[in-house]
Amino acid sequence: MSAEFPYVRPRRLRSTPAMRRLVAETRLHPAELILPAFVREGISEPKPITSMPGVVQHTRDTLRRAAVEAAEAGLGGIMLFGVPEVQDAIGSEGTNPDGILQQAIRDVVAEVGDQLVVMSDLCLDEYTDHGHCGVLAADGSVDNDATLERYAEMAVVQADAGVHLVGPSGMMDGQIGVVRRALDEAGHQDTGILAYTAKYASAFFGPFREAVGSSLKGDRKSYQQDPANARESLRELEQDIAEGADLVMVKPAMAYLDILRQVADASPVPVSAYQVSGEYAMVEAAAANGWVDRERIILETLTSIRRAGADQILTYWAVEAARMLG
Ligand code: PBG
Repeated sequence: MSAEFPYVRPRRLRSTPAMRRLVAETRLHPAELILPAFVREGISEPKPITSMPGVVQHTRDTLRRAAVEAAEAGLGGIMLFGVPEVQDAIGSEGTNPDGILQQAIRDVVAEVGDQLVVMSDLCLDEYTDHGHCGVLAADGSVDNDATLERYAEMAVVQADAGVHLVGPSGMMDGQIGVVRRALDEAGHQDTGILAYTAKYASAFFGPFREAVGSSLKGDRKSYQQDPANARESLRELEQDIAEGADLVMVKPAMAYLDILRQVADASPVPVSAYQVSGEYAMVEAAAANGWVDRERIILETLTSIRRAGADQILTYWAVEAARMLG
Protein backbone atom coordinates (compact mmCIF):
# COMPACT_ATOMS: atom_id res chain seq x y z
CA MET A 1 0.00 0.00 0.00
CA SER A 2 1.51 3.32 -0.95
CA ALA A 3 1.00 6.51 1.02
CA GLU A 4 -1.11 8.09 -1.63
CA PHE A 5 -4.68 8.69 -2.58
CA PRO A 6 -7.04 6.80 -2.42
CA TYR A 7 -5.51 5.31 0.76
CA VAL A 8 -4.49 8.67 2.22
CA ARG A 9 -7.50 10.86 2.91
CA PRO A 10 -6.72 13.92 5.10
CA ARG A 11 -10.43 14.70 5.24
CA ARG A 12 -10.94 11.85 7.74
CA LEU A 13 -9.48 14.08 10.46
CA ARG A 14 -11.85 16.89 9.53
CA SER A 15 -15.00 14.81 9.44
CA THR A 16 -16.78 15.63 12.73
CA PRO A 17 -16.63 18.33 15.39
CA ALA A 18 -15.30 15.74 17.87
CA MET A 19 -12.56 14.63 15.48
CA ARG A 20 -11.55 18.22 14.72
CA ARG A 21 -11.47 19.00 18.41
CA LEU A 22 -9.31 15.96 19.08
CA VAL A 23 -6.66 16.88 16.53
CA ALA A 24 -6.60 20.68 16.93
CA GLU A 25 -2.97 21.77 17.31
CA THR A 26 -3.72 25.23 18.64
CA ARG A 27 -6.00 26.06 21.53
CA LEU A 28 -6.93 29.39 23.01
CA HIS A 29 -7.21 29.88 26.73
CA PRO A 30 -8.29 33.01 28.65
CA ALA A 31 -5.14 32.85 30.81
CA GLU A 32 -2.97 33.79 27.87
CA LEU A 33 -5.04 36.86 26.96
CA ILE A 34 -4.12 40.36 28.10
CA LEU A 35 -6.54 43.30 28.01
CA PRO A 36 -5.09 46.70 27.06
CA ALA A 37 -7.05 49.44 28.86
CA PHE A 38 -6.99 53.22 28.80
CA VAL A 39 -7.57 55.47 31.80
CA ARG A 40 -8.05 59.20 31.36
CA GLU A 41 -7.47 61.87 33.92
CA GLY A 42 -10.19 64.36 34.77
CA ILE A 43 -13.30 62.72 33.30
CA SER A 44 -16.35 61.61 35.24
CA GLU A 45 -17.86 59.30 32.61
CA PRO A 46 -16.08 56.80 30.38
CA LYS A 47 -15.46 58.27 26.94
CA PRO A 48 -16.01 56.10 23.85
CA ILE A 49 -13.16 55.92 21.32
CA THR A 50 -14.85 56.51 17.97
CA SER A 51 -12.36 54.58 15.89
CA MET A 52 -12.52 51.59 18.25
CA PRO A 53 -16.22 50.81 18.77
CA GLY A 54 -16.71 49.15 22.13
CA VAL A 55 -13.47 50.49 23.64
CA VAL A 56 -13.47 53.48 26.00
CA GLN A 57 -11.18 55.77 27.89
CA HIS A 58 -11.97 54.79 31.46
CA THR A 59 -12.39 56.86 34.56
CA ARG A 60 -10.45 55.50 37.52
CA ASP A 61 -13.66 54.01 38.75
CA THR A 62 -14.77 52.27 35.57
CA LEU A 63 -11.21 51.01 35.07
CA ARG A 64 -11.42 49.29 38.42
CA ARG A 65 -14.64 47.65 37.36
CA ALA A 66 -13.16 46.63 34.00
CA ALA A 67 -10.25 45.04 35.84
CA VAL A 68 -12.61 43.03 38.03
CA GLU A 69 -14.46 41.91 34.92
CA ALA A 70 -11.16 40.88 33.33
CA ALA A 71 -10.22 38.86 36.40
CA GLU A 72 -13.64 37.20 36.49
CA ALA A 73 -13.28 36.28 32.82
CA GLY A 74 -10.06 34.47 33.74
CA LEU A 75 -7.69 36.68 31.76
CA GLY A 76 -3.96 36.50 32.34
CA GLY A 77 -3.29 40.20 32.61
CA ILE A 78 -4.17 43.81 31.97
CA MET A 79 -1.97 46.42 30.28
CA LEU A 80 -2.65 49.99 31.42
CA PHE A 81 -2.23 53.18 29.40
CA GLY A 82 -2.61 56.60 31.01
CA VAL A 83 -4.11 59.65 29.30
CA PRO A 84 -3.05 62.75 31.27
CA GLU A 85 -4.77 66.14 31.28
CA VAL A 86 -1.53 68.00 30.70
CA GLN A 87 1.13 67.20 28.10
CA ASP A 88 4.50 68.92 27.83
CA ALA A 89 7.82 68.61 25.99
CA ILE A 90 9.35 66.04 28.32
CA GLY A 91 6.18 64.20 29.33
CA SER A 92 6.35 65.26 32.98
CA GLU A 93 3.14 63.48 33.96
CA GLY A 94 4.73 60.16 33.07
CA THR A 95 7.08 60.49 36.02
CA ASN A 96 4.67 62.16 38.43
CA PRO A 97 4.19 59.66 41.29
CA ASP A 98 0.56 60.78 41.43
CA GLY A 99 0.12 60.89 37.65
CA ILE A 100 -2.95 59.17 36.22
CA LEU A 101 -1.18 55.96 35.24
CA GLN A 102 0.44 55.56 38.64
CA GLN A 103 -2.92 56.12 40.36
CA ALA A 104 -4.53 53.58 38.06
CA ILE A 105 -1.79 51.03 38.78
CA ARG A 106 -2.41 51.42 42.53
CA ASP A 107 -6.18 51.07 42.01
CA VAL A 108 -5.94 47.98 39.83
CA VAL A 109 -3.26 46.23 41.90
CA ALA A 110 -5.36 46.79 45.04
CA GLU A 111 -8.46 45.48 43.31
CA VAL A 112 -7.24 42.44 41.34
CA GLY A 113 -3.48 42.28 41.86
CA ASP A 114 -3.69 38.72 43.18
CA GLN A 115 -5.58 37.42 40.16
CA LEU A 116 -4.18 39.37 37.24
CA VAL A 117 -0.69 40.31 36.15
CA VAL A 118 -0.82 44.10 36.08
CA MET A 119 1.29 45.76 33.39
CA SER A 120 1.87 49.35 32.33
CA ASP A 121 2.97 51.06 29.15
CA LEU A 122 6.35 52.63 29.65
CA CYS A 123 6.56 55.28 26.96
CA LEU A 124 6.33 59.04 26.63
CA ASP A 125 3.97 59.51 23.68
CA GLU A 126 0.86 59.72 25.86
CA TYR A 127 2.55 62.48 27.88
CA THR A 128 4.42 64.67 25.39
CA ASP A 129 2.85 67.63 23.61
CA HIS A 130 4.69 66.74 20.38
CA GLY A 131 3.48 63.14 20.60
CA HIS A 132 6.83 61.41 20.18
CA CYS A 133 7.87 58.45 22.30
CA GLY A 134 10.89 60.33 23.59
CA VAL A 135 12.27 63.77 24.29
CA LEU A 136 13.50 65.89 21.41
CA ALA A 137 16.98 67.19 20.67
CA ALA A 138 17.51 70.81 19.58
CA ASP A 139 17.21 69.79 15.93
CA GLY A 140 13.81 68.18 16.54
CA SER A 141 15.02 64.57 16.33
CA VAL A 142 14.16 62.07 19.07
CA ASP A 143 17.11 61.99 21.47
CA ASN A 144 17.76 58.34 22.32
CA ASP A 145 19.97 58.71 25.39
CA ALA A 146 18.11 61.63 26.96
CA THR A 147 14.92 59.58 26.54
CA LEU A 148 16.50 56.64 28.37
CA GLU A 149 16.87 58.82 31.46
CA ARG A 150 13.16 59.60 31.35
CA TYR A 151 12.32 55.89 30.93
CA ALA A 152 14.46 54.98 33.94
CA GLU A 153 12.50 57.41 36.07
CA MET A 154 9.16 56.22 34.67
CA ALA A 155 10.03 52.62 35.43
CA VAL A 156 10.69 53.46 39.06
CA VAL A 157 7.45 55.42 39.63
CA GLN A 158 5.43 52.65 37.97
CA ALA A 159 7.15 50.01 40.08
CA ASP A 160 6.68 52.13 43.20
CA ALA A 161 2.96 52.10 42.37
CA GLY A 162 3.09 48.30 42.45
CA VAL A 163 2.99 47.25 38.80
CA HIS A 164 4.12 43.67 38.12
CA LEU A 165 5.51 44.17 34.62
CA VAL A 166 6.57 47.37 32.91
CA GLY A 167 6.20 47.48 29.13
CA PRO A 168 8.83 49.70 27.51
CA SER A 169 7.34 50.42 24.08
CA GLY A 170 9.35 53.34 22.74
CA MET A 171 11.96 51.40 20.70
CA MET A 172 14.90 53.42 22.04
CA ASP A 173 18.22 51.58 21.82
CA GLY A 174 19.29 50.28 25.20
CA GLN A 175 15.91 50.82 26.87
CA ILE A 176 15.65 47.39 28.47
CA GLY A 177 19.06 47.55 30.14
CA VAL A 178 18.50 51.06 31.46
CA VAL A 179 15.08 50.14 32.84
CA ARG A 180 16.42 46.95 34.45
CA ARG A 181 19.24 48.81 36.17
CA ALA A 182 16.95 51.58 37.39
CA LEU A 183 14.48 49.06 38.81
CA ASP A 184 17.21 47.10 40.56
CA GLU A 185 18.85 50.19 42.00
CA ALA A 186 15.48 51.26 43.42
CA GLY A 187 15.01 47.86 45.07
CA HIS A 188 12.50 46.60 42.52
CA GLN A 189 14.30 43.36 41.61
CA ASP A 190 10.95 41.58 41.40
CA THR A 191 9.34 43.94 38.91
CA GLY A 192 9.59 42.34 35.48
CA ILE A 193 9.93 43.70 31.96
CA LEU A 194 7.69 42.88 29.03
CA ALA A 195 9.83 44.31 26.23
CA TYR A 196 8.26 45.63 23.06
CA THR A 197 11.04 43.96 21.10
CA ALA A 198 9.96 43.97 17.46
CA LYS A 199 7.73 46.98 17.02
CA TYR A 200 7.09 48.33 13.55
CA ALA A 201 6.33 51.85 12.33
CA SER A 202 2.81 50.77 11.46
CA ALA A 203 -0.35 52.42 10.16
CA PHE A 204 -2.19 49.82 12.24
CA PHE A 205 -1.61 52.03 15.30
CA GLY A 206 -3.87 54.72 13.81
CA PRO A 207 -6.89 54.39 16.12
CA PHE A 208 -4.62 54.23 19.19
CA ARG A 209 -3.66 57.85 18.59
CA GLU A 210 -7.27 58.84 19.27
CA ALA A 211 -7.36 56.47 22.23
CA VAL A 212 -4.52 58.30 23.99
CA GLY A 213 -5.19 61.78 22.62
CA SER A 214 -1.80 61.84 20.89
CA SER A 215 -0.86 65.00 19.07
CA LEU A 216 1.84 63.40 16.91
CA LYS A 217 2.33 65.15 13.59
CA GLY A 218 5.16 63.33 11.83
CA ASP A 219 5.85 59.62 12.15
CA ARG A 220 7.94 57.24 14.22
CA LYS A 221 10.08 55.86 11.41
CA SER A 222 13.37 56.93 12.99
CA TYR A 223 12.83 54.63 15.97
CA GLN A 224 10.21 52.00 15.11
CA GLN A 225 11.17 49.30 12.60
CA ASP A 226 10.66 49.41 8.86
CA PRO A 227 7.84 47.04 7.79
CA ALA A 228 10.14 45.90 4.97
CA ASN A 229 12.61 44.31 7.39
CA ALA A 230 12.70 40.99 9.23
CA ARG A 231 16.33 40.45 10.23
CA GLU A 232 16.54 43.37 12.63
CA SER A 233 13.79 41.80 14.73
CA LEU A 234 16.17 38.99 15.65
CA ARG A 235 18.83 41.53 16.46
CA GLU A 236 16.40 43.43 18.69
CA LEU A 237 15.51 40.11 20.33
CA GLU A 238 19.13 39.27 21.06
CA GLN A 239 19.71 42.69 22.54
CA ASP A 240 16.57 42.72 24.69
CA ILE A 241 17.37 39.27 26.06
CA ALA A 242 20.94 40.32 26.85
CA GLU A 243 19.62 43.43 28.62
CA GLY A 244 17.25 41.43 30.82
CA ALA A 245 13.82 41.23 29.17
CA ASP A 246 11.56 38.74 30.99
CA LEU A 247 9.08 38.52 28.12
CA VAL A 248 9.33 39.89 24.59
CA MET A 249 6.66 41.15 22.23
CA VAL A 250 5.98 41.41 18.51
CA LYS A 251 3.67 44.19 17.36
CA PRO A 252 1.42 44.52 15.38
CA ALA A 253 0.34 40.89 15.12
CA MET A 254 -1.51 39.87 12.00
CA ALA A 255 0.56 41.62 9.35
CA TYR A 256 3.70 40.36 11.13
CA LEU A 257 3.03 36.67 11.71
CA ASP A 258 6.25 35.76 9.91
CA ILE A 259 8.20 37.91 12.37
CA LEU A 260 6.30 36.38 15.26
CA ARG A 261 7.24 32.89 14.09
CA GLN A 262 10.91 33.77 13.75
CA VAL A 263 11.04 35.46 17.14
CA ALA A 264 9.15 32.57 18.78
CA ASP A 265 11.59 30.05 17.30
CA ALA A 266 14.60 31.97 18.60
CA SER A 267 13.38 33.33 21.95
CA PRO A 268 14.44 31.77 25.26
CA VAL A 269 11.64 33.70 27.05
CA PRO A 270 7.86 33.86 26.51
CA VAL A 271 6.73 35.74 23.40
CA SER A 272 3.67 37.99 23.38
CA ALA A 273 1.95 39.51 20.37
CA TYR A 274 -0.15 42.67 20.33
CA GLN A 275 -3.26 42.65 18.17
CA VAL A 276 -3.33 46.42 17.82
CA SER A 277 -5.99 49.10 17.45
CA GLY A 278 -6.09 49.06 13.65
CA GLU A 279 -6.53 45.29 13.56
CA TYR A 280 -9.45 45.68 15.94
CA ALA A 281 -10.96 48.60 14.04
CA MET A 282 -10.87 46.85 10.66
CA VAL A 283 -12.77 43.83 11.93
CA GLU A 284 -15.29 45.94 13.83
CA ALA A 285 -15.94 48.11 10.77
CA ALA A 286 -16.40 45.15 8.45
CA ALA A 287 -18.60 43.36 10.99
CA ALA A 288 -20.74 46.47 11.51
CA ASN A 289 -21.44 46.37 7.78
CA GLY A 290 -22.40 42.72 7.97
CA TRP A 291 -19.50 41.82 5.69
CA VAL A 292 -17.82 39.31 8.00
CA ASP A 293 -18.87 37.05 10.85
CA ARG A 294 -17.49 39.02 13.79
CA GLU A 295 -17.13 36.25 16.38
CA ARG A 296 -15.59 33.77 13.97
CA ILE A 297 -13.11 36.39 12.79
CA ILE A 298 -12.12 37.26 16.35
CA LEU A 299 -11.38 33.64 17.21
CA GLU A 300 -9.72 32.96 13.85
CA THR A 301 -7.37 35.93 14.18
CA LEU A 302 -6.45 34.96 17.75
CA THR A 303 -5.90 31.35 16.69
CA SER A 304 -3.61 32.44 13.86
CA ILE A 305 -1.55 34.56 16.24
CA ARG A 306 -1.20 31.64 18.66
CA ARG A 307 -0.37 29.27 15.81
CA ALA A 308 2.39 31.64 14.64
CA GLY A 309 4.01 31.27 18.05
CA ALA A 310 2.56 33.77 20.51
CA ASP A 311 2.42 32.58 24.11
CA GLN A 312 0.32 35.58 25.14
CA ILE A 313 -1.90 37.90 23.11
CA LEU A 314 -2.80 41.47 23.93
CA THR A 315 -6.21 42.11 22.40
CA TYR A 316 -9.03 44.58 22.92
CA TRP A 317 -11.37 41.58 22.60
CA ALA A 318 -9.75 39.77 25.54
CA VAL A 319 -12.80 39.69 27.81
CA GLU A 320 -15.25 38.89 25.05
CA ALA A 321 -12.98 36.20 23.60
CA ALA A 322 -12.51 34.64 27.03
CA ARG A 323 -16.28 34.42 27.39
CA MET A 324 -16.64 32.84 23.96
CA LEU A 325 -14.05 30.25 24.94
CA GLY A 326 -15.75 29.53 28.25
C1 PBG B 1 3.38 53.59 22.52
C2 PBG B 1 2.38 52.59 22.08
C3 PBG B 1 1.60 52.59 20.93
C4 PBG B 1 0.78 51.47 20.99
C5 PBG B 1 1.06 50.82 22.18
N1 PBG B 1 2.07 51.51 22.84
C6 PBG B 1 1.52 53.60 19.84
C7 PBG B 1 2.65 53.83 18.94
O1 PBG B 1 3.73 53.27 19.07
O2 PBG B 1 2.47 54.66 18.02
C8 PBG B 1 -0.21 51.08 19.96
C9 PBG B 1 -1.27 50.13 20.41
C10 PBG B 1 -2.39 49.99 19.42
O3 PBG B 1 -2.37 50.52 18.31
O4 PBG B 1 -3.35 49.30 19.79
N2 PBG B 1 3.06 54.12 23.77
